[in-house]
Amino acid sequence: MTNPRTHPGGSTTMTSSGQLTLTNGVQIPTLGFGTWQIPDGAAAYDAVSAALAAGYRHIDTARAYGNESSVGRAIADSGLAREDVFVTTKLPAEIKDHDAAATSLQESLAALGLAYVDLYLIHAPWPWAQMGADHATGNALAWAAMEGAHEHRLARAIGVSNFAVSDLEKLIAASRLKPQVNQIKFYIGNTQDEITRYCQTHDILVEGFSPLATGSILSNADVLDVARTYDRSVAQLCIRYVQQRGVVPLPKTTTPSRMVENADLGFTITDEHMALLDGLTDTATEHHGPKPRA
Ligand SMILES: NC(=O)c1ccc[n+]([C@@H]2O[C@H](COP(=O)([O-])OP(=O)(O)OC[C@H]3O[C@@H](n4cnc5c(N)ncnc54)[C@H](OP(=O)(O)O)[C@@H]3O)[C@@H](O)[C@H]2O)c1
Repeated sequence: MTNPRTHPGGSTTMTSSGQLTLTNGVQIPTLGFGTWQIPDGAAAYDAVSAALAAGYRHIDTARAYGNESSVGRAIADSGLAREDVFVTTKLPAEIKDHDAAATSLQESLAALGLAYVDLYLIHAPWPWAQMGADHATGNALAWAAMEGAHEHRLARAIGVSNFAVSDLEKLIAASRLKPQVNQIKFYIGNTQDEITRYCQTHDILVEGFSPLATGSILSNADVLDVARTYDRSVAQLCIRYVQQRGVVPLPKTTTPSRMVENADLGFTITDEHMALLDGLTDTATEHHGPKPRA
């Protein structure tokens, strides 16, 4: 189903299912399946197998999630052709060095059992223990290894995650190839407008992680009110909202019925409701206590 609302970046129209084209011509499905916090072994294998059976063709993992081998086995056992599944993994945020980055991608490929990934991302601009610190030099070194991987077709596209405008500007100034993607936290009430606008006006596709605020938006009364007018669940409304903002959502669930629900997005949120949702704040119940690393 085609969504008439134009991508805020200008040129691309997002559809509820389908593909977008990155600057290097690589096609990316407009709905991904997230795997953070799904343990390696049966849990990750079963979740990814069920997601592929439900029709997802875009899987998001990371070296840091520790589940690449189960994700890879599920893809291999799915019977799908390699070129029909878009696979993303990520360079650990702590690696800010050329050779260690090249080695880490090899380890990811070995764990996944793949000859290449479709998208390889720097997981964060800083090690998780130093959030906000300036690692521009280290990012440029890691990025050079990723440019090499792209040239050698080990990664069909390369990008970043959790990068702010200043992180991106420094990386772009120091590199040959501009990131094709920035994966950032994006849900109703937390749309990171400055970085989203920057990416969308510089042809960097935005992927939205935690489109359900890791589950903590699901009881929001304002969002529920809008969802009801479409006879849709809060999860469906949240995921569709992200798509209509020109961002690729990456919802995670280990519940097969929810996988089907979250991919059933054949409806259009009106401009009036989009504006209402754009104006919401404090939509998520904040988590307290230590947060697991994303
Ligand atoms: N780059 C980064 O730094 C970064 C950071 C965070 C996340 N990510 C990526 O983004 C993905 C998604 O983000 P996320 O894991 O934070 O979570 P999310 O997709 O925002 O929310 C997942 C939570 O919502 C629940 N849920 C899913 N669909 C539902 C439905 N239809 N009805 C009710 N509950 C539902 C899930 O429960 P059940 O599983 O129990 O069904 C789970 O508790 C991650 O898995 C990862 O791939 C990337």
